[in-house]
Amino acid sequence: MANEQVLDPVDGGGTVDHGRRRFLTATTAVVGAVGAGFAAVPFIKSWNPSARAKLAGAPITIDISALGEGQRLVDEWRGQPIWVVKRTKQMLDVLPTLDPRLADPESTTDQQPEYAKNELRSIKPEISVLVGLCTHLGCSPEMVAEIKPEPFDPEWKGGYFCPCHKSRFDMAGRVFQGVPAPINLLVPPHHYESDTSIVIGVDPQGAA
Ligand code: FES
Repeated sequence: MANEQVLDPVDGGGTVDHGRRRFLTATTAVVGAVGAGFAAVPFIKSWNPSARAKLAGAPITIDISALGEGQRLVDEWRGQPIWVVKRTKQMLDVLPTLDPRLADPESTTDQQPEYAKNELRSIKPEISVLVGLCTHLGCSPEMVAEIKPEPFDPEWKGGYFCPCHKSRFDMAGRVFQGVPAPINLLVPPHHYESDTSIVIGVDPQGAA
């Protein structure tokens, strides 16, 4: 079970971990809970290293061949949740419109490698890779991808919401102004081994 990955549906609400500690201690339970709640959600067997190797920091390889538009795939690297999201065109189109509401729209803080230092914070426009831990106190935010008024933001355009203290991030992991989280979500080092395979933990060849 520890080496399984799970595809999360578009609203991300199926993820039941609300904190880093719970994620660290209950990964198997989380995977099981999501699978039980969404019977149609496919599970993907991974060829990744053992759980012990992951905790030690070994790179992991994530197969994104089954990742559909608007879906999130969750894996684990160095004891942290790694999110891979295939963003829709609508999600991408919304991002520039959010800049005036964000704390650091141009990602000036050291929260992403140089090759992901752009408005989309990604190597490929549609594929977002993030460490799924809130930069406030480390809870794991929920993906709330639908564009519609939410109790926590009447002008919500889709993104990530941290229920612990109500921090909000857009679909590039950029933090909104006026929330407890001080900086954008972290983009981990990663590169594409092929069109359908991402290695987490290793920069692209020749990257600064
Ligand atoms: S841990 Fe996310 S808002 Fe506090």
